Amino acid sequence: MTNEHWNQAYTEKTPDQRSWTQPEAHDSLSLIRESHVCKDAAIIDIGGGASLLVDALIEDGYTDVTLLDIASAALTETEVRIGNKASYLCADITLWTPERTYAVWHDRAVFHFLTTPEQHDAYLNAFLTGTESSSHLIIATFAPTGPESCSGLPVQRWSQHDLARFFKPHCEVISTFETTHTTPWGTLQPFTWLHARRK
Ligand SMILES: C[S@@+](CC[C@H](N)C(=O)[O-])C[C@H]1O[C@@H](n2cnc3c(N)ncnc32)[C@H](O)[C@@H]1O
Repeated sequence: MTNEHWNQAYTEKTPDQRSWTQPEAHDSLSLIRESHVCKDAAIIDIGGGASLLVDALIEDGYTDVTLLDIASAALTETEVRIGNKASYLCADITLWTPERTYAVWHDRAVFHFLTTPEQHDAYLNAFLTGTESSSHLIIATFAPTGPESCSGLPVQRWSQHDLARFFKPHCEVISTFETTHTTPWGTLQPFTWLHARRK
């Protein structure tokens, strides 16, 4: 079960033992700031885990931040840190039906765990239900030269072109670029980023 896998990743490993940990969610925060949404706009971090992005958003003055993750242990870790300054949803993104829409849909390192057309469709359906025209999409996946697996699970790596093409029927592309994440133990992981806007 995927949720057991991820709960274990959060309960059995410290942040420094998780490859995806960042000291600061710099790229994510910059792109959200560049979106110029109001401070009370709804922002959702898909698979936000224990990322410090939410802390930085709250520090920046954003007041409506939701964290969705399949691992309750990850949400608990964040809740212990920041309490009720954010909202928490424990759900599998491929099975989740949003009950509201968000001005910013952020996902760093979750979409790449979906490797079948059915999972991609389910993600897209959730995205389309959970956003509206002019909502921002900020998404980061492993790049073509990135790792073939993460946390022991296979991933699908995306080029800037293919990631943009996947969302293009529903979004205007604002930018695509590549960054390199350094894991806590010094391994380099190339990431593909897409910033787009719902048509
Ligand atoms: C590699 S971690 C990235 C965490 C965070 N976004 C960050 O940048 O630090 C992947 C996260 O996605 C969550 N996740 C994996 N599959 C998921 C799914 N199907 N639905 C929701 N969350 C999922 C995991 O629990 C984990 O927190």
